Amino acid sequence: MENKKIIFSGVQPSGNVTLGNYLGAIKNWVDLQEEYNCIYAMMDLHSITVRQNPQELKKKTLDLLALYIACGIDPEQNILFVQSHNHCHAELSWVLNCYTYMGELQRMTQFKDKSKNHADNINAGLFTYPVLMASDILLYQTDLVPVGKDQMQHIEICRDIAERFNGIYGDVFKIPEGFMPKAGAKVMSLQEPTKKMSKSDENPKAYISMLDDLNVIAKKIKSAVTDSEGIIEYREGDETKAGINNLITILSAVTGKSIESIVSEYSGKGYGDFKADVAEAVVECIRPIRAEFDKISQDKKYLTDIYEDGAMKATRIAERTLKKVYKKVGFVV
Ligand code: TYM
Repeated sequence: MENKKIIFSGVQPSGNVTLGNYLGAIKNWVDLQEEYNCIYAMMDLHSITVRQNPQELKKKTLDLLALYIACGIDPEQNILFVQSHNHCHAELSWVLNCYTYMGELQRMTQFKDKSKNHADNINAGLFTYPVLMASDILLYQTDLVPVGKDQMQHIEICRDIAERFNGIYGDVFKIPEGFMPKAGAKVMSLQEPTKKMSKSDENPKAYISMLDDLNVIAKKIKSAVTDSEGIIEYREGDETKAGINNLITILSAVTGKSIESIVSEYSGKGYGDFKADVAEAVVECIRPIRAEFDKISQDKKYLTDIYEDGAMKATRIAERTLKKVYKKVGFVV
């Protein structure tokens, strides 16, 4: 790999990859790939913190790889791999568990939310999830972690753990920075726009899956919840405007137009026309991705070659950091 700064990020193969995942994370990976050495994984270890169907998990993991590539991530230029194929992630996670406090983990909002949503399965993995995520990032001496807003708290705890470890043992880990897009860092549910768009939402109308039929995508946007005021205006923090704010943000993220220019373009227009335009813009954004996905996902050999090569390269890099950690803590290496 050339001597560039390093990016690490990933998506869990735990559901349908949504427009939120794309705009909040994957789209930025594509934009950043020239400037950085990038390592992107399918985070299967994380996904089993919530019960998964084994056959589906396997299929979703491979589909996710095909989707990364279909979205424009160049597999020649970047390292793409399955998290569980690199033994270092689980191993470093164990070590870092011993340098993370219960109190820190108890403050994580994602843990609190997921405990509420999966009250019958509040497992230890769900609790220590951020430590595994910190391990993912720190193993590669990562400079930048492009994620959506909901993951920023996990990047903060990753930095805290790394600083604590470095404070005891010297400079072992690079301290990473989080990176969020200007528009699309938090895409909201189409049905309850004060809630984040989530791939595990029970109501499929609430999210757009990158693999939905294009006409289904258009329908979902056209039936997005808005308000009765009838004014296309962006009002940050105004809950009654949450639906319109969200659609304006989505349009801004997919077209690259600023929020201000969208608001002035639609001033005086009705919600019907506006929604139809948002629907069209999203469909046109997803159409080529979908076509590419349909092609690549059939080619099992192509995908296998990529993830095998990725695992080898990722493991080689990660083992260097893991070995350093083992030496520092006093293991016989
Ligand atoms: P996950 O799989 O929930 O989401 C993947 C990425 O999509 C972003 N995202 C969103 N962005 C905008 N609007 C939304 N509604 C939305 N929903 C999700 C997430 O912020 C994320 O960037 N813990 C991570 C996976 C992970 C990881 C890592 C990421 C594991 N280890 C190391 C970076 C580095 C997660 O659950 O993402």
